[in-house]
Amino acid sequence: MIKRIGVLTSGGDAPGMNSAIRAIVRYGLSQGLEIIGIERGYQGLIEGDFRKLSRDDVSEIVQRGGTILRTARSEDFKKEEGRKKAIENLEKEGIDALIVIGGEGSLKGAYDLYKEGVKVIGLPGSIDNDIWGTDYSVGFDTACNNVIDAINKIRDTAAAHERTFVIEVMGRECGYIAFISGLVSGADIILIPEVPIDFPYIIEKLLERQKRNKKHNIIIVAEGVGSAYFIGKQIEDRMGLSTRIVVLGHIQRGGSPSVFDRTIATFMGVEAVKRLIAGENGVMVGWQNNSPVSLGLEEVVKNKKRVPAELYWEVESLW
Ligand code: F6P
Repeated sequence: MIKRIGVLTSGGDAPGMNSAIRAIVRYGLSQGLEIIGIERGYQGLIEGDFRKLSRDDVSEIVQRGGTILRTARSEDFKKEEGRKKAIENLEKEGIDALIVIGGEGSLKGAYDLYKEGVKVIGLPGSIDNDIWGTDYSVGFDTACNNVIDAINKIRDTAAAHERTFVIEVMGRECGYIAFISGLVSGADIILIPEVPIDFPYIIEKLLERQKRNKKHNIIIVAEGVGSAYFIGKQIEDRMGLSTRIVVLGHIQRGGSPSVFDRTIATFMGVEAVKRLIAGENGVMVGWQNNSPVSLGLEEVVKNKKRVPAELYWEVESLW
C-alpha cells in the first residue's frame, strides 16, 4: 500500500516540469496520498532536503518555467555511497515510492534506485527530446518555440545586412531541437549530429542560394555537431561571406511553458500517480499517440532516441 510519494526534478530544468509537479500533488492528494517534495533532485535526496507539499504549495506555478523544486546534476548520486544515503533517507522519511522527472541521466538514476528495491516511476523532462519511448519530452516544445522566436528576429537583421548567420542550439548529442525548429522556421541549412555532413555540402548549398539571388542565410547547428564559431569561420574562409554567430544557450530553457508542454506534463503526472497506486513500478510514463503510456525503465535507459536520418533526408529539399 502506497501512502507517501516523493517527487523530484533532476538534471537540466525543462519548462512544464511545474505542471507535472502540480498534477502529481493535486491528483495524489485527491487519492488520499501524502506528497513529499524533494529539493534539488538527487542531491536533495542525499542531503534529506524534503518538504511536504500541499495543494496551495503548487498554486500559481503552471505559468512558470524552471522547477519550483529546483534541480541539480548530482555527482554524489553517481557514487554507491551517495545512492545508499539516498535510499536511507527515503526509508527514514517513510516515502513508499518516488516519481523522478528528468532527462536521460535522471532516468538512469531512477533505474539504479529501482534495481536497489526502491519503488520508482520516471517522467520524461528534458528540452532535448532524446528520451527513448516517448514521442515528446516535457520542455521540448517550449524550447523549440524559444528557438523559432529567436530565428524570426535574427532573420530581420540577416536580411537587412545580407549576412549569413550560424545559430547554435542545444540538444547534447541529439538533433531534435535543431531539426524541428530549423525545419518549421524556414532555415536554409540544418546540421545535426545524426547526419554527418561535410563542408562541400554546406558550400554547395550556399552557392546554389547565391545563384538564386538569395543574399542572406540562416544555418542552424545542433551543439552536438560542434562549434558554430568553427563552422562560421570555415564559411568565411571558403566563400568570403560575412557571417555572424549566435549561440542561443540557456534562453532556450526558460520562459512560460507552451500549452503542449503543460498538457503532456499534466496528463503524464496524473498517470504516474495512478500507476503507482495500481502497483506499477520501475517504469517511465511517456507520451505516445496523444496518450500517456508506460514502458520499462530498463528499455528506456538502454536505448537512445535520435532524429532518424531518413526523416532528415526526406525533408531536406525544404531548405
Ligand atoms: O539537457 C538539457 C541541456 O540544456 C542540454 O541541451 C545542454 O547541453 C545542457 O543541458 C546544458 O547543461 P547545463 O545547464 O548544466 O550547462
